[in-house]
Amino acid sequence: MSAFVFVIGSAYLLAAVLFVVGLHWMRAPSTARRGNLISAAGMVVAVAATLTFALADSGGRLLAWIALVLGLLLGGLYGVLQARRVRMTEIPQLVSVFNAVGGGAAAAVAFAASVLHPGGPALDPTTSVPLVLDVLIGSVTFSGSLIAAGKLQGIVPGRPILFPGSRAANVAVVAVALGAGVLTLLHTHNIVLLLIVLLAALTFGVLMVLPIGGADAPVIVSLLNALTGLAVAMAGFAIDNQAMIIAGALVGAAGTILTLQMAQAMNRSVGNIVLGGFGTGDTTTAPSGPDADLTHVRTVTADDVALQLAYAQHVMIVPGYGLAAAQAQHEVAELAKVLTDHGADVEYAIHPVAGRMPGHMNVLLAEANVPYTQMLQIDEANAAFSTCDVALVVGANDVTNPDAREPGNAVSGMPILDVDHATSVVVLKRSMSPGYAGIANPLFTDPRTGMFFADAKKGLSDTVAAVKEYVTA
Ligand code: TAP
Repeated sequence: MSAFVFVIGSAYLLAAVLFVVGLHWMRAPSTARRGNLISAAGMVVAVAATLTFALADSGGRLLAWIALVLGLLLGGLYGVLQARRVRMTEIPQLVSVFNAVGGGAAAAVAFAASVLHPGGPALDPTTSVPLVLDVLIGSVTFSGSLIAAGKLQGIVPGRPILFPGSRAANVAVVAVALGAGVLTLLHTHNIVLLLIVLLAALTFGVLMVLPIGGADAPVIVSLLNALTGLAVAMAGFAIDNQAMIIAGALVGAAGTILTLQMAQAMNRSVGNIVLGGFGTGDTTTAPSGPDADLTHVRTVTADDVALQLAYAQHVMIVPGYGLAAAQAQHEVAELAKVLTDHGADVEYAIHPVAGRMPGHMNVLLAEANVPYTQMLQIDEANAAFSTCDVALVVGANDVTNPDAREPGNAVSGMPILDVDHATSVVVLKRSMSPGYAGIANPLFTDPRTGMFFADAKKGLSDTVAAVKEYVTA
């Protein structure tokens, strides 16, 4: 082994250690930021080592240098610009686009390796099998992730898109992809067969994601992310790159765990999500907007809410997607501070799928310096609701829907936050519109619930001002 190869190999090992340490630190909110930075440092080391190796391997060809440096600059610039510009609520679609790029790149690497492989028709199965699997999985994740990003962004309709014979079409495309894949293995250098694998897999990615409802898109993004990891690991085997094998395996494992946890938090199986049509995203089955029937709704004002809160001993704040949409994390933290200074016990109830991405509420509240000790997980929060004077629901809907305890609806079986066990409930949202699942929430017509119709940011600011008057009067 030359000294150069040893240095490159050591750099890959260092990168792998940094990835693992980073992932470990991402397990807890208090160390997650550090975990992210350390993983990013690992990626810098891996990219630098790969670039150095590739440039040395290019034999000084100008075209190879231009392609490598230009690719690095364009990709890096695009990543930085997108990541800086994106709003927190749009991160799932950004992740999905990055995922598409990762899967597509892995498939392209394998395709190029197959076209350029100098080894003649009889490739070693340890190279040819990962190579074909890489093209297959990478292509599915490329097209599937783009459709999922389109659904999350609203470019592709969020409702499940089905057409007559779609199941049969799925089976046919999978059969073509697998058949062509096997034939490719038997005739290793038949690029036409590999091209058929690629096209059939791209088609399957589209057909697989189109029937999935918008609310399930984040779970599918996580599943596709796990598959991208697998494709990258396969590409690593195909071109004998250890960093790709390790990073791909880590992404595959972490993505699989995340997918299972998300599915579990919605009380659904991954199979049911892939084959189901829940959470249409743009279909409303509950009364909403100005036409909504408010006969059984008790409306309250900022002043009413402030009075209730000023006399409360134990307040539980329940954040949801609307808090993120309104970017009202600082206002909610200020309200909590005013109440705490006044002697109340204030906590936050965090549902694992509140918002639109895993850990959404934790990240949002951390931005406003809410101490992690005040954020209760679902089980702890549910044990505490019965001792709460007020449960203040801010922009949350599905995660509080008591109908989840009943069979036969879109949220049946999903563990919910038992806000209706509190002495009184205030729901701050703009209207009677449903949440992502598109169904009515009987919590809103519960006699103990006061509906505070306002934008979360404005509603909370008004409440803070009113509470201050009561507590300093
Ligand atoms: P949702 O059920 O989506 O409800 C959010 C509510 O926020 C809406 O009813 C909306 O009502 C309100 N809202 C929107 N903008 C607002 C604003 N500016 N001010 C005040 N309120 C505002 O949210 P949730 O309870 O957090 O539940 C999350 C949903 O997403 C669940 O169905 C979950 O399964 C799904 N999901 C989550 C994830 C992850 S990982 N988090 C992944 C997949 C699916 P108005 O329009 O009336 O204001």
